[in-house]
Amino acid sequence: MGNPGASHHSITLQSLTVFSLVVVFAADHVQGGDDGCSPFSCGHLRDISYPFRQRGDPLDCGVEAYELGCTSSKATIHINTGTYYVTAINYTGSYFWVMDPNLNTSSSCPLPLWNHLPYIGYFGGIDSVSPSGFLYLATQSYYRACFTNCSRAVTNNSAYKPVACLSASNSHVYVWVSDYMPCMVEVLEPYCGYLGEIPFGDEYSSDWGQLQNASYADITQFISKGFTVQFL
Ligand SMILES: *[C@@H]1O[C@H](CO)[C@@H](O)[C@H](O)[C@H]1NC(C)=O
Ligand SMILES: *[C@@H]1O[C@H](CO)[C@@H](O)[C@H](O)[C@H]1NC(C)=O
Ligand SMILES: *[C@@H]1O[C@H](CO)[C@@H](O)[C@H](O)[C@H]1NC(C)=O
Ligand SMILES: *[C@@H]1O[C@H](CO)[C@@H](O)[C@H](O)[C@H]1NC(C)=O
Ligand SMILES: *[C@@H]1O[C@H](CO)[C@@H](O)[C@H](O)[C@H]1NC(C)=O
Repeated sequence: MGNPGASHHSITLQSLTVFSLVVVFAADHVQGGDDGCSPFSCGHLRDISYPFRQRGDPLDCGVEAYELGCTSSKATIHINTGTYYVTAINYTGSYFWVMDPNLNTSSSCPLPLWNHLPYIGYFGGIDSVSPSGFLYLATQSYYRACFTNCSRAVTNNSAYKPVACLSASNSHVYVWVSDYMPCMVEVLEPYCGYLGEIPFGDEYSSDWGQLQNASYADITQFISKGFTVQFL
């Protein structure tokens, strides 16, 4: 693509912006359109629009970091080293819900993988603003479920909730909820080992008072709904 002078370029950009708005507006009314930038469907999601793009779209559609992979039933997004299912998008709040495919939500006894750390996205940090002015994808939730495996029972820490379905006579598995920060291995009892962690919920959905007393069954409900990622 040539760039014949800055002022010409900016006029072109402005007309392109107006043009895209017109195209989006028109596409909305003719159900589709073949310019590649019109709202699209992906998995079970409908009317997906900017800043998201679909794999295979022209490069000037959407933002590359927000490219979705689509199958007939799932929309996926790649963030850092992981691929996540996108289950809902809220454009008003500029966030979307994701589920980690490594967490088996069909299981009655889910456990995050120990070697699969969720990406650490700090919401609002200086480093999170990309050169194009977009915030890099950042987890929006304050909460994480942290799993530990202990060689003896922990009876003096009420934050540790037993996970009976993963425990045996010589291995006691617990989950606890961490707020505002990743699971801290430093706070583990010396006879306990780290098993895995997963963020859950959104900014508002869960109240810390309730979570402090949440059982593994309650936490399973939360982590099965996934967590939110801020996109702008
Ligand atoms: C979308 O986000 C806005 C702003 O956070 C919120 O008020 C609204 O309830 C959300 N919509 C849904 C369907 O969750
Ligand atoms: C997920 O859990 C279900 C129910 O326990 C089980 O049938 C299925 O094999 C599990 N899937 C994976 C990938 O482990
Ligand atoms: C629980 O007891 C162990 C000793 O058995 C001690 O090292 C640990 O600090 C105690 N934890 C809490 C949270 O009181
Ligand atoms: C917990 O640790 C014990 C002993 O190392 C091991 O046998 C067991 O499989 C572990 N449990 C989980 C859920 O990883
Ligand atoms: C949590 O449980 C403890 C002991 O069962 C209880 O005293 C406390 O009020 C509960 N906190 C909340 C916020 O429900």
